[in-house]
Amino acid sequence: MTKWWQKAVVYQVYPRSFQDSNGDGIGDLPGIIQRLPYIKKLGVDVIWLNPIYKTSNVDGGYDISDYQAINPDFGTMTDFKKLLAQAHQMGLKIMLDLVVNHSSSEHPWFIESRQSKDNPHRDFYIWRDPVNGHEPNNWGSFFSGPAWTYDTKTQQYYLHLFAKEQPDLNWANPQVRQAVFKMMNWWAKQGIDGFRMDVISLLSKPDGLPDGPQAPNAPYGDGGSLVANGKHEHEYLREMNQQVLSKYDWITVGETAGVTIDQAAKYANLDGNELNMVFQFEHMGLDNNRDPRLGKWSDQKATLTALRANLTKWQQKLANRAWNSLYWNNHDQPRVVSRFGNDSPQYRVLSAKMLATMLHCMQGTPYIYQGEELGMTNTHFATLDDVVDVEARNAYHELVDQEKIISGQKLLRYFDAKSRDNARTPMQWNDQKNAGFSSGKPWLQLNANYQQINAAAALADPNSIFYFYQQLIKLRHNLAVITDGDFQLVKDNDQDPAVFAYTRRNSDQQLLVICNFTDQTLERDYSLVPEAKLILQNYQGKMTTSLRPYEARVYLTD
Ligand code: GLC
Ligand code: CA
Repeated sequence: MTKWWQKAVVYQVYPRSFQDSNGDGIGDLPGIIQRLPYIKKLGVDVIWLNPIYKTSNVDGGYDISDYQAINPDFGTMTDFKKLLAQAHQMGLKIMLDLVVNHSSSEHPWFIESRQSKDNPHRDFYIWRDPVNGHEPNNWGSFFSGPAWTYDTKTQQYYLHLFAKEQPDLNWANPQVRQAVFKMMNWWAKQGIDGFRMDVISLLSKPDGLPDGPQAPNAPYGDGGSLVANGKHEHEYLREMNQQVLSKYDWITVGETAGVTIDQAAKYANLDGNELNMVFQFEHMGLDNNRDPRLGKWSDQKATLTALRANLTKWQQKLANRAWNSLYWNNHDQPRVVSRFGNDSPQYRVLSAKMLATMLHCMQGTPYIYQGEELGMTNTHFATLDDVVDVEARNAYHELVDQEKIISGQKLLRYFDAKSRDNARTPMQWNDQKNAGFSSGKPWLQLNANYQQINAAAALADPNSIFYFYQQLIKLRHNLAVITDGDFQLVKDNDQDPAVFAYTRRNSDQQLLVICNFTDQTLERDYSLVPEAKLILQNYQGKMTTSLRPYEARVYLTD
C-alpha cells in the first residue's frame, strides 16, 4: 500500500534566506506566509522548514537554545501558527527540523550542566576528565578543531561533534530521551506534519569513546566514523517511534551521513518502526578532495559513471526494503546546476532541467531546495570577509592559518565550488532592489546574477525551469510507475560516460528516461518501441534523432 509521503514532493525553505517582511535583512515567517501561493503553484505537497527555534545562531539555527520558542528574528509563535494554518488551508503540510544530537551551549540544560559535576543536568551532556592534561581522545569536530572543549569551572571537557557552541546531548541518559520525546509530542499538539531529523545517525556514541582513525599529517582523528550508526542507535529510534512517531501520520526523514544501504534499510524499514526515509550522502561525496585532510574542499567534478553507479545502487538495493529520499540540493550543499550541470548562460536552463529529470523520475520522495526550481547558481567569494558560514570560516582558520595545508586563495576557490553559503544566498524573487528579498541590507550578500535569474522572470516564461519542475511534480502525482515501478539501467548504459538512461516499470506502464550529461551532441539508439510516447523533454520544437547537449527525454509506454 502506497503511503501518502511516498507520492509526495517536498520543498525546503531556509527561512533566513527566503523572504524578509520587515526590512531587517533576515527572512522570516510572515515572509514565508506571503510566498505560500508561490510554493503552492509549484505543486509540492510538503514544506520542510530549517530550524525556526530560539538559537544562538552560530550555525544557522542548528544550535537551539529553546526547542519550544520561535527565533525572534523570524517572528513569534503566533506567526508560526498562522503559517501552519494557512499552509494547511492550501493543502500544504509543514515539516520541522529536529536538532537533538546537540543543543546550543546557551540552552538552559547546558547552562545548568556546566555548573557542577553533581548538577541534575550534568549527564544531559558528555563530560570527561582530561587525559594527560589533554582532550579525552583524538576526535576532530566536523567544523574543524578538536571535538572537545575544556570548561574551567568543573575542569572537565565536554564533547561537541560540531561547533563548541553545540554540545552533544547524552542519549544514553533516559532523561534526555524523555525530554526530547516530550518536546516532540508538544509540537505534534501544535499540528505539525513531521520532522526532518538532523544528524540523527550520530546519537549513540561508542563505549569508551576510543580514538578514531587519523590520516597521516592530519591534526585530528575521525570520530564521526566511529559514532555513525552506533550500537544503540536503532534502539533509540524505535523508542522514539513508539513514544512519538507511531501516534501520528507524519513524514519523517533522517539525515544520516555515513549511512550504508544495510543501515538505511534499518532506519527506513518498511515495517515503519523507525523513520520513513533517510538522506544518504554518498553521491554528495563523489567530488571530495583526494587529500583526506581537505575532505569536501575541492573543485573536483564527479564523473557521470560514478554518479550513476551510486544512484543506481541506492535505487536497486533499497527497493522493497526501505524508502529512498531523492535530493541534489539542500542548505548544506552547493547549487546543483553549478555542481553537476553547466551554469554558463548557454546551458544553465537545459542542464538544470536535465538534472531535475534524472532525479525526479527515480523512486523515492524528492526534495526541492528553494531556488533550485529557478536554476540558482553558486556564488563567488572574493575574500574571506564574504564568507559567513562557520564550517567554511573554521576550515580556513585550520587549513590555511594553522596547518598551512593550502593557500587562502586556493581555499576560496574551493569555497566557490563547495561552501554552504552557496545555498544560503537570498532567494531571488525579482530584478529589483535586493532581488525582492528584503528592503534592507540582506544578512548574506546576494548572488550577482539575480537580474537574470529570478522567480518573476521564471513565472513569466512558459519554458522556465520552474514550469519544468511543475510538470515533473504533476507527472509523479499522476503516474503510479514513478512511485512504484522498478528501476533498471538501459542495456549497456552502465558503460556510457555521457548519457544516463534508465527505465521504470510496473505491471502496466514503462517509463524510459534519457539524460545527456554533457555539452556534446551524441548519437544513441535505445530501440524505442513505436508506442512509446514522448511525455517530457527539455528542448522545444522539432525532435532530432541525436541527443543534443544536456537533452533530457521521458517516454511512456502503457
Ligand atoms: C546538519 C545540518 C547542518 C548543521 C549540522 C549540525 O548537517 O544540515 O546545517 O550544520 O547538522 O547541526
Ligand atoms: Ca525579517
